[in-house]
Amino acid sequence: MTARAHWTNRLAFILAASGSAVGLGNIWKFPYITGTNGGGAFVLIYLVCIALVGIPIFIAELYIGQSSQKSVVESFEVLDRKNSPWKSIGWLGLAAAFLILSFYSVVGGWVLDFEYRSLIGEFTRETDDQISSTLGNLFGNPGRQLLWHFIFMAMTVSIVLRGVKEGLEKWNKILMPGLILMLVGLLVYSVQLDGFMQSLKYLFSFNTDALTPAGVLEAVGHSFFTLSLGMGAIITYGSYLQKREAIARTAIVVGLVDTAVALAAGVVIFAVVFTFGMEPGAGPSLMFKTLPMLFVKLPVGQIVAIIFFLLVSFAALTSSVSLLEVVVAYWEEKKKISRKVVTIVTGVIIYALGMLSALSTNVLSDFKIMGLTFFDLFDKATSQYFLPIGGLFIAMFFGWKLGPEAAKHALGGNRPGFSAGLMWSARLVAPIAVGIIIIYKIYMDFQ
Ligand code: PHE
Repeated sequence: MTARAHWTNRLAFILAASGSAVGLGNIWKFPYITGTNGGGAFVLIYLVCIALVGIPIFIAELYIGQSSQKSVVESFEVLDRKNSPWKSIGWLGLAAAFLILSFYSVVGGWVLDFEYRSLIGEFTRETDDQISSTLGNLFGNPGRQLLWHFIFMAMTVSIVLRGVKEGLEKWNKILMPGLILMLVGLLVYSVQLDGFMQSLKYLFSFNTDALTPAGVLEAVGHSFFTLSLGMGAIITYGSYLQKREAIARTAIVVGLVDTAVALAAGVVIFAVVFTFGMEPGAGPSLMFKTLPMLFVKLPVGQIVAIIFFLLVSFAALTSSVSLLEVVVAYWEEKKKISRKVVTIVTGVIIYALGMLSALSTNVLSDFKIMGLTFFDLFDKATSQYFLPIGGLFIAMFFGWKLGPEAAKHALGGNRPGFSAGLMWSARLVAPIAVGIIIIYKIYMDFQ
């Protein structure tokens, strides 16, 4: 048995964990769900969820991974006992990894396609109408979507194949700083757009007009998705941490990075939306309609759009590798099969599952389960059920089963105030808040 791989140092870990957290959730999903929920008030609820529920659960997951030095199912057995019922959390997490990565890779494929179109200058030759129908046309083209979905999945597999240090750590070290640099550049660029002030106002003024109970549920679900919580990605990454490393501060840093990136992406996208008088509530196509518009409208717009889609593909890739790693780490450890074989087999299965999502916008568009296409079903089922349910039990496991000793270790010593706060959140605040939300969600969906 070879020794477990570990991150080289704290920075490497912070980059990898932020790489997992920062992804399509921040740059594609957060702006569009903010838009469909009317802005300001939605953002505030999302921020509250991150602080009160997200960060404590992040700490809990890191602790579970770090102290057990095991992947997602076995970690619960090591910390509790063999055949502990808690290990069902792990099974749920593995299922979520398959489902999320399957549609995530399809969206990653759209991003690659838009980067390609930007590079060849396709948008330069087009009218506004043509640009805004690009995504719709791609939806109608199953072959093209499957091709890009394949390329995205192949990139993910080729990184995970190389293992923790040579694959995950190395690529996060390149892609994450690149992403941050590009995002800061775009943020500076957006300041001079006419719609910049309006964008800030839209995101940060407390406007409850368009907020519905469904919007509140969406904010809670999204806070799990955006921090990669509730399915074991952070447990798995935590299991590659040395045992002595204190983790609470790291969790806060990652939470801040993730939130900052989401807000910055929102500012940039809505600045473009308001500059050209577009519709903030356009839904999933928002990012794909707004950014290419810069091409025809503004002098250096082409370069800006190229950089933007490159940034999004970096973000998507550093998250997709963490999703795949959850499954690969489990299989490799449990079945003692070589990493190469496991990664490729898992990649192929997830690619096939993802075909259902890629075909949801064309061949299978009329095939619906509970009124949802496969794409929407996988997206909603994971962020509104799997992740919150997983998160709820992880919080309880940490709070009730492991208790104050674990909090003490996670905080790196005796810090009674913080420790009590963490226990409060893990034992009561997170389970009760998330529990109410899940029950309410079930009521709304199945009444
Ligand atoms: N956090 C990622 C994002 O915001 C998605 C993700 C979810 C990654 C769950 C891993 C686990 O895009």
